[in-house]
Amino acid sequence: MPAKSVTDYIRTIPDFPQEGIMFRDVTTLFADPRGFRMAVDQMLHPHAGEEIDLVVGLEARGFILGGAIAHQLSTGFVPIRKKGKLPGKCIEQSYTLEYGEAVVELHEDAITAGQRILLVDDLLATGGTAEAGISLIERLGGKITACSFIIDLPDLGGRAKLEAMGMEVHALCA
Ligand code: PRP
Ligand code: ADE
Repeated sequence: MPAKSVTDYIRTIPDFPQEGIMFRDVTTLFADPRGFRMAVDQMLHPHAGEEIDLVVGLEARGFILGGAIAHQLSTGFVPIRKKGKLPGKCIEQSYTLEYGEAVVELHEDAITAGQRILLVDDLLATGGTAEAGISLIERLGGKITACSFIIDLPDLGGRAKLEAMGMEVHALCA
């Protein structure tokens, strides 16, 4: 039997959170010790030897990945959260995504200008969430070295959007 790949651990749930959306559920990947390690190791691979000061993760599944990646890189971890969750003074950015609109926030003192940042999330769809994250990080002077995802849904245009902004984009599967 061939070895399992990251894709094999991810399930697709139709019509969640609304009709017509094929929701890529990574909880099954995170729950499996081999799957989770494989995903984190593969996300780290392109950045071996790179100087990264900080990992920033997008709520919510970017926290799980970002925490593990930051631990491996021995960097700190900073969360970008949905509006109203962070306790300190924040900057905010609104955005649209595949199934709605939202506002994300970042603590205004979480990033020092010039810090080299790896931005992490589980999935890239329209790119709206990542674009909002990039905007927040850049407003504080952070330098994004790359954006890293497990899944890229290329038909939704996120990768093209981020690359057009000059971002280096990595994903493990489509
Ligand atoms: C999902 C996913 C990404 C975002 C990608 O999060 O985890 O953050 O959508 O979509 P986009 O590229 O079209 O912006 P979701 O908004 O469902 O939030 P959650 O992780 O807090 O559930
Ligand atoms: N975020 C946006 N689109 C998504 C999808 N199809 N599955 C999981 N998360 C998503």
